Amino acid sequence: MKCRIYYFTGTGNSLRAAQKIAEAFDNAELVSMRLDPRDVPADDCDVIGFVYPVYHWTMPAPAVQFIKKLSINTKAYIFAVANPSAICGFAVERAAALIKEKGGRLAYGNMINCVANYAIVYPPVPPAKLMVPLMERKAEKIAEDIANLRERAYPRAGMLVRIKHERFMKPYLKLQKYADYPFTVSDDCIGCGICSKVCPCNNISIRDGRPVFLHHCANCMACVTSCPKRAIGYDIYSGGRELLNASGKDTPITKLMGLPAKRKLYRNPYITVQQLTKSIISTGDDNNGKKSGA
Ligand SMILES: Cc1cc2nc3c(=O)[nH]c(=O)nc-3n(C[C@H](O)[C@H](O)[C@H](O)COP(=O)(O)O)c2cc1C
Ligand code: SF4
Ligand code: SF4
Repeated sequence: MKCRIYYFTGTGNSLRAAQKIAEAFDNAELVSMRLDPRDVPADDCDVIGFVYPVYHWTMPAPAVQFIKKLSINTKAYIFAVANPSAICGFAVERAAALIKEKGGRLAYGNMINCVANYAIVYPPVPPAKLMVPLMERKAEKIAEDIANLRERAYPRAGMLVRIKHERFMKPYLKLQKYADYPFTVSDDCIGCGICSKVCPCNNISIRDGRPVFLHHCANCMACVTSCPKRAIGYDIYSGGRELLNASGKDTPITKLMGLPAKRKLYRNPYITVQQLTKSIISTGDDNNGKKSGA
């Protein structure tokens, strides 16, 4: 049985979930959605999976674009697993609709509540120590379901999300095209290129030893949390005042929210920076499933 799981991840929660599901198969392949979907089609797969975070109550835009361009075996067993922190919203419904447009059917949909990773806004919540064991257990249960090709009705957005989406999220989504404009790079940068390699959107180019942001960013936080020098900041100015920052300085908003200036950054403890740089991982690869100590 040929199983391929396509994943989108910034800080490793979705990759970890994909890994756990892949382990339930003899020979599954994990494929990053940073690749061109035309190079990694799923026409010959018997099991096809999509695993991704939730951004702004829905599926991340790059994952939507990826699935749109991917050719699939419409007769395959197809599953989708979203990894929100708290609000899954339309994230799995969106996958179901995209697969339906292609003539396939989402046989199984589920979600795993995870540590929230939006490092520029808040520290990791709930704390990883509490949350990661729960995430692991839920991923194991999902992996068992999927290995047995079980069917499951997918999670749908609740009434409140449906009502509030238009007002709160739609305007916010329009601003996404400016997502990487506030990034800053401090003099601590050593030009190692890690930020460029972990970016799931191919949005960072290294020029003259410095990262340059190419304006198709999903705000996934991979670059911010993987930089070995913590050199990437996110500075929003309003009337000359810096409001948000990920590089460890106090700002009016962090003070107001009571956030520690040098707050913790998050990466799933089972996922290494090196794994985030990969685009294809097979279940037999090194370090698969071992805690990275990050
Ligand atoms: C830009 C951004 C938007 C997010 N929006 C949501 C959201 O709408 N609902 C939610 O529950 N979590 C949200 N989160 C939290 C992530 O979905 C969650 O931490 C996820 O597990 C991260 O997955 P990853 O480690 O695979 O990147 C958001 C995170 C980011 C960075
Ligand atoms: S990962 Fe950090 S140190 Fe390395 S190039 Fe990027 S910003 Fe510079
Ligand atoms: S530039 Fe950074 S935040 Fe934006 S998509 Fe790439 S890794 Fe994620």
